[in-house]
Amino acid sequence: MDLRGIDTPRLEWTGDCLVIGLFEDAIDLTGDLADLDQKLSGTLAELIAEAEFKGKEGSSAITRVGSNSPIRKIAVVGLGKADGLKPESLRRAAAVAARLGKKEKCKTLGLSMPVWNSDPALTAQAIGEGIELALHQDTRFKSETEDKGAKLEQIDLLGLGGQDAAITRARQICLGVILARELVAAPANIVTPITMAETAEAIAREYGLSLEILEQNDCEKLGMGAFLGVAQASDLPPKFIHLTYKPAGTPRKKVAIVGKGLTFDSGGLNIKPTGSGIEMMKTDMGGAAATLGAAKAIGLLKPDVEVHFISAVTENMVSGRAMHPGDILTASNGKTIEVNNTDAEGRLTLADALVFAEKLGVEAIVDLATLTGACVVALGDDIAGLWTADDTLANQISKASELSGEKFWRMPMEDKYFEGLKSVVADMKNTGPRPGGAITAALFLKQFIKDTAWAHLDIAGPVWTDKENGYNSTGATGFPVRTLVNWVLN
Ligand code: BES
Ligand code: MN
Ligand code: ZN
Repeated sequence: MDLRGIDTPRLEWTGDCLVIGLFEDAIDLTGDLADLDQKLSGTLAELIAEAEFKGKEGSSAITRVGSNSPIRKIAVVGLGKADGLKPESLRRAAAVAARLGKKEKCKTLGLSMPVWNSDPALTAQAIGEGIELALHQDTRFKSETEDKGAKLEQIDLLGLGGQDAAITRARQICLGVILARELVAAPANIVTPITMAETAEAIAREYGLSLEILEQNDCEKLGMGAFLGVAQASDLPPKFIHLTYKPAGTPRKKVAIVGKGLTFDSGGLNIKPTGSGIEMMKTDMGGAAATLGAAKAIGLLKPDVEVHFISAVTENMVSGRAMHPGDILTASNGKTIEVNNTDAEGRLTLADALVFAEKLGVEAIVDLATLTGACVVALGDDIAGLWTADDTLANQISKASELSGEKFWRMPMEDKYFEGLKSVVADMKNTGPRPGGAITAALFLKQFIKDTAWAHLDIAGPVWTDKENGYNSTGATGFPVRTLVNWVLN
């Protein structure tokens, strides 16, 4: 599918379907839309009336136009209230338009949307992202695809001529999102620590990043007892991935992104019972997947920032070699951990990954992890938790999230709750009481950061969606690759 910005007026565009974005409070046809309606013998006004189209976000209507018209179909998509227009509204409306065009077997689509905030570049980027992400379909594990008939070949963004760079940027970022989606969606017999390392190798090779893979013995030398404790029951070797993107000149800043990479989380000997969603625990490498997705996007975008992409990848399994509940592990910063629950494994792997990241001397570290069910209980499926003691970093992430439309809610770093992690025998336990479980998880991670600005993102909810939602189809979402990329770029 080819996507381009053109300046052809909507009155003159020709093709299979012209889609017009309309605000909730402005669906009456004036100006050139009145002319267009006249040219289409009143079809546009009829469509709006008959479909009772009100311009609500997510709504749409489509109809055929008389056969001697230069367009075959005309459609409207709702943008919600004009004063509430955000890049996310455009992204979602573009997704509605693209899905509609595909369903209606259009080969060529013309899309006419308002410009957000007098910023045609961000407008084109948001629309481009909405289209690319909505049209991505993952059929790798189907023996037959349902996709039959005409394919969308060309989408023209009307009024956005000259925005090719923004459209390219959208495509590059979406390639990262799609990589993350495909890694998360693939089951644990396909995506393993070994294949995750191979994916990192492919990114390094294709986009010129440097790559260091620490094998088990390398991790032993560094004293990564927490990570290796989790890995010890698996028949697959753990892989500690460290990808580095360095710009050509002097970097403007130097940051690290650390992703939880459990290719499967059985819970260990504190095994996840039926009904706990154990069969979804292939998604427990969502943090690492988004880290690799961001690495791919950054490798394509080539910003003037040095970025380290880190993930301690393993499975959490059961075997005669498994950690016993109650085992004491020593992390690479020398701190000892009593493992009172083997299912709180993500924080153990992250502990050593954070210590490693801080040694790189970066200005800021962001970790992202499908860390707790408690965060899903608190914030639901669409919103990730954000913990940081650093207001500057919090503001940077919230700005990045406003642009991406990916939602975060800042949660309290309530130091007093660390009492819940006090151990009789070791420096700390890995699991606190059930209430505030997402907060104690963040406080646990905090023990492995000395003085670098650091933020923790609990993405357990939003990495997956059970129903189609805007530009996300049912399944893996690729959350929060776009926020990470925005954060690096700004
Ligand atoms: N990977 C899970 C968290 C999770 C749960 C992600 C549901 C996505 C959906 C994590 O390793 C885990 O098992 N956490 C436990 C922690 C508990 C033992 C303190 C949890 O949330 O129940
Ligand atoms: Mn677990
Ligand atoms: Zn887990």
